[in-house]
Amino acid sequence: MVVTLLCAVLFVYLYWQQTSRQEPTLVFNYEHAFVSNYKKPQPPQWTWECVNQRCERRHVTTASSSSHKQPKLQSLATCGMLCGSTQLWPQPTGPVTLGTRAVTFNHLQMQLVTLVAGPAKHMVEQAYRAFNDSIVSLVQRADYVKDRPDIKKFTVKVTVSHPEIVRLKLDTSEGYNVVVKVQNDEIVANVTAKTFFGARHGLETLSQLIWWDEYVPGGGSLRVLKGATVQDAPAFPYRGLMLDTSRNFMSIDTLKRVLVAMAASKLNVFHWHITDSQSFPLVVPAYPEFSKTGSYGPDMTYSPEEVRGLVEFARLRGIRVLLEVDTPAHAGNGWTWGPKEGLGELAVCVNEKPWNIYCGEPPCGQLNPDNPAVYTVLENLYKYLLDLTGEREIFHIGGDEVNLECWAQHLQKNIVTNNYTDLHDLWGDFTLKAINRLHQANGGTKVPHVIVWSSKLSQRPYISKYLDKSNVVVQSWGASQWTDTPDLIADGYKVILSHVDAWYLDCGFGRWRETGEAACDPYRPWQTVYSHRPWQQFHLPKNQIMGGEVCLWSEQVDESSVDARLWPRAAAFAERVWTDPQLDVATFNIHEDVYTRLNTHRDRLVARGIGAEALWPQWCSQNPGMCL
Ligand SMILES: *[C@@H]1O[C@H](CO)[C@@H](O)[C@H](O)[C@H]1NC(C)=O
Ligand SMILES: *[C@@H]1O[C@H](CO)[C@@H](O)[C@H](O)[C@H]1NC(C)=O
Ligand SMILES: *[C@@H]1O[C@H](CO)[C@@H](O)[C@H](O)[C@H]1NC(C)=O
Repeated sequence: MVVTLLCAVLFVYLYWQQTSRQEPTLVFNYEHAFVSNYKKPQPPQWTWECVNQRCERRHVTTASSSSHKQPKLQSLATCGMLCGSTQLWPQPTGPVTLGTRAVTFNHLQMQLVTLVAGPAKHMVEQAYRAFNDSIVSLVQRADYVKDRPDIKKFTVKVTVSHPEIVRLKLDTSEGYNVVVKVQNDEIVANVTAKTFFGARHGLETLSQLIWWDEYVPGGGSLRVLKGATVQDAPAFPYRGLMLDTSRNFMSIDTLKRVLVAMAASKLNVFHWHITDSQSFPLVVPAYPEFSKTGSYGPDMTYSPEEVRGLVEFARLRGIRVLLEVDTPAHAGNGWTWGPKEGLGELAVCVNEKPWNIYCGEPPCGQLNPDNPAVYTVLENLYKYLLDLTGEREIFHIGGDEVNLECWAQHLQKNIVTNNYTDLHDLWGDFTLKAINRLHQANGGTKVPHVIVWSSKLSQRPYISKYLDKSNVVVQSWGASQWTDTPDLIADGYKVILSHVDAWYLDCGFGRWRETGEAACDPYRPWQTVYSHRPWQQFHLPKNQIMGGEVCLWSEQVDESSVDARLWPRAAAFAERVWTDPQLDVATFNIHEDVYTRLNTHRDRLVARGIGAEALWPQWCSQNPGMCL
């Protein structure tokens, strides 16, 4: 009896523990810093000296290091922060002034003071926790907190004038000001913004004014600039990153790493291409067969709780999530249960061979536009997606690479309505119906911006017949030389640019199937990603360009290599759409400062647990300017 009672109490307690743990869990722990004896500090081998705004490496000889004439040893990190370049990434668009001196402190001295009231208060506190994690990620020796820092206190003040804004929209202000000052042994960092989203970016910038200096006597310490002012706001409202989790599954923890790195780079849209014809990992409670027949395994799925948790994790990092279930093409596995459930064939050509007749890559599959049940399923699915993300301003319906041959052959047999002389019209009708169902799913209200991938349907003459330019945004992925983008703009459409020749990060890894060639070799190095400025190169008006998005299709990448595939290249893209620096179109030369800052940012990402790729030999990092 007693035991039963105890068990019941324990059960209730555990349940309460579970359900009351609403806070998003953190991805990383920084235990590396907290194991004692991690490494004995060695006497420095190099010192850096600022000469003409460049850090020069000098060898420390045993004799000279004990001599009083030797200037104070300076670490590369400290020299880099105090010598010329800002080390900020992306570079702010407003005025920046940075002090040339720094003070030591420890992370336990940091304290948040926020007068934010209302809904954004909790978000600011959570964003501050993420900021704290970023700072702690730099720490390389836990017992440095016992040392005596230069200052007594480090106060981070956050002020938000519109705390009622808790959801990012295209017209949400993301600008912010950061002022860092020392007053009576106290560091005060003032972060002010109109909205939470601006303030969050401000904290991100503040984290970039802080670094670990391994040369501080005793084994290193955190340092912060003694003075700084930064005014900043982005060039484009839509700064996206698309990731495909259908070709290869990626765990929620991996996706959190993507979001952490996006936040560090001030990207703000995570376009989650969650399904494709290969697999359907999203669990849909109303239609459990989707993931049961479509996922790679019971553990390779995304539950509604996991998706919601990720959406919240993203929101606290200034990122909105767009869930894309691509249709009518790129839909096969996961869509085959219709007949069993009495709904008829929902998809045709599924896994059909020879694949190259019916789709762009194996396995094939395309929704059946002739089956009314398809539209009912879509409407319910859309309702679910809208509810999962809470995102009702922008919705991505897919529309990529429809293969008309698949429909021509599979619909001939039974189609009554096959009066189409041009199957583009069938495709157009499908799209109109899908958009209509989306609006129904949204409670009868139009979702203001419906995104489709660029395709034949988004070209003349079909586009004006099927895509309403006041509602549809085209994600233009064709090569930048193609006429797609200028035509869309001339015809009055809003666009998101994802030009394959610059912003496709999956290219350059050779063939993954015997037939056909590699989809899109060669590799796009970060310089190509960075130097792509199509509005300048092709004279496109910026007001119809919502922004840009880098894309990573996952045929040849999974969670073991996704970090390196994305970073630091997606960060290079981030500066293009946040700062949008002028491009020298005559030479396409990238300034030395960009290399230096991106390299610093890459190190920052690595510290935060992201497996970002190296830019170059470490010798180049240690000898700024010498490799260019
Ligand atoms: C910051 O991180 C440190 C180390 O994990 C922790 O001790 C401290 O409580 C954190 N502060 C906040 C406000 O989360
Ligand atoms: C920070 O902002 C507050 C008002 O929000 C102001 O009183 C204070 O002087 C500012 N401190 C610094 C260091 O700029
Ligand atoms: C298809 O065309 C035939 C002959 O032109 C016509 O009788 C029929 O009504 C058309 N079907 C539809 C659905 O428009």
